Amino acid sequence: CGIVGVVGNKNATDILMQGLEKLEYRGYDSAGIFVNGAHSEPSLIKAVGRIADLRAKIGIDVAGTMGIGHTRWATHGKPTVDNAHPHTSASGRFVLVHNGVIENFVELKAQYLADDTFKGQTDTEIAVHLIAKFAEEEGLDTLKAFQKALNLIKGSYAFALVDAYDPEVIYVAKNKSPLLIGLGENYNMVCSDAMAMIRETSEFMEIHDQELVILTKENVQVLDYQGNEVARDSYTAELDLSDIGKGTYPFYMLKEIDEQPAVMRKLIATYTNEDGSMKVDDKIVKEIQAADRIYIIAAGTSYNAGFGAKMMLEALTNTPVELGVASEWGYDMPLLSKRPFFIFLSQSGETADSRQVLVKANELGLPSLTITNVPGSTLSREASYTMLIGAGPEIAVASTKAYTGQIATLAFLAKAVGEADGEPKAAAFDLVKELSLVAQSIESTLSEKDEISDVVAKLLPNTRNAFYIGRKQDYFVAMEASLKLKEISYIQCEGFAAGELKHGTISLIEKGTPVIALISNNKEVASHTRGNVMETVARGASAITIVEEGVARADDTIVVNQVHPYLSAISMVIPTQLIAYFASMQRGLDVDKPRNLAKAVTVE
Ligand code: G6P
Repeated sequence: CGIVGVVGNKNATDILMQGLEKLEYRGYDSAGIFVNGAHSEPSLIKAVGRIADLRAKIGIDVAGTMGIGHTRWATHGKPTVDNAHPHTSASGRFVLVHNGVIENFVELKAQYLADDTFKGQTDTEIAVHLIAKFAEEEGLDTLKAFQKALNLIKGSYAFALVDAYDPEVIYVAKNKSPLLIGLGENYNMVCSDAMAMIRETSEFMEIHDQELVILTKENVQVLDYQGNEVARDSYTAELDLSDIGKGTYPFYMLKEIDEQPAVMRKLIATYTNEDGSMKVDDKIVKEIQAADRIYIIAAGTSYNAGFGAKMMLEALTNTPVELGVASEWGYDMPLLSKRPFFIFLSQSGETADSRQVLVKANELGLPSLTITNVPGSTLSREASYTMLIGAGPEIAVASTKAYTGQIATLAFLAKAVGEADGEPKAAAFDLVKELSLVAQSIESTLSEKDEISDVVAKLLPNTRNAFYIGRKQDYFVAMEASLKLKEISYIQCEGFAAGELKHGTISLIEKGTPVIALISNNKEVASHTRGNVMETVARGASAITIVEEGVARADDTIVVNQVHPYLSAISMVIPTQLIAYFASMQRGLDVDKPRNLAKAVTVE
């Protein structure tokens, strides 16, 4: 979910709506705003669906100098108008937006409130009703009522609270969920991320977990939950809002797929010096040299990117690499090695699952690096070090250029560490040249969009399920390829180690089941995978082969230009991104905003 608030600006409605549009990547099943002012009537507008659906309901009469807004990714309760935020108290006096999950809402409700107070099924409503109860029944002022509620609520939250009687103040609090203050000229803002405020300001202030902020036009007062004032400096972050449009493309995803050669070339410029040597922060290199194991923590596509880089990282740094699913590691951290180094891979830098592991690593005093596409994001601010992918905003929910950009960024890191270690393989790996070849290979695949679209039209239109198979690095690409297809085409698809399919899952192969094999240039592996393809064809499967040049045959479906084996995950994934794109488009789906998903999930 995404939150935005502004106080002291006569264009409050505009600022809220523009902020929500930027935050839509955090969820798009419903949205709402509350606007108020000393000289205007309070308005509360909510809508099920996209921000555009909300905009359609907002007339010119919705104006004021302050307000709060929210875009939702449902956790508790269906996407309905009643469940959409802002939520209001029965009297209408208190208005609140929330991101996160209140874990003890059932207990709090049973203890403090009557059932008929609630309009919907969300966990959030408890907060606004509690505050109202403490203010209206116990006579506490708004700040004290909020404080009392915060001391009772357990879980993750970013709150923005408004008292409709006092249009000069927004009360803010956070625990675990991201939230930032933005400082304007004679007005102030609060928002889930910096990008949504950069039209207005480049001056920000952090809020730490379990802090409460009183936000007015001229003042930002930070308090702990006991009411003690906390000193906090602001900081300047110059973020770039360029290339956020989709140009002539029908969907952002296609634009982002097409941008990948440019992302590769930009990374070369970012991470190499003029003489071709690596330009990677020495401190990061030294930390990894000192480590006995690298732990890569991530979710979704970023997790798959970690696998795509694992072989290269191990070969060049001579350090074992272990991958962790972020949502599991928060609770079930395995026995760590003696000198661990954590790498957090996250396009958005906001994923709550990844952050909970980073919080643990920080508590343990362990060094960490975040590799992200979003400067100033939570994971970037809280890790010891950051390396930026610099791929430009990725808007489509299905991640493409961030996946390839993450692997390429890790390549610079791996080479820098390997060279510092005197590892001959690192010196021999001409990354600038090899990544340039990758950019060319991507371009060549991109020039075959029509052919790939035809393959999809022939094989995938009515299928219920499909398989991607591969060995070694191709298996990791198969995992990402199947995730991509599932996410946006809703075809059930599994990415399988090619040799493992016969140990059970092959029973799912029926006449016409598409099996897409990924075969990169490794002769031994290639012949084994081809054998596995034949096993599925013998059982009725319709096979598609995506094969790297060196091992390609005339009857292969898609041939990919050869690249260095360390980087083949980047070039081999491109046809699979296009397959997912065309499968979704040909089914008439919203490619960029698939159902049920959000670009960044900020709850655990
Ligand atoms: C969400 C998105 C996925 C993404 C994952 C991790 O679930 O729908 O596409 O891969 O989060 O996101 P991150 O921003 O941490 O890479």
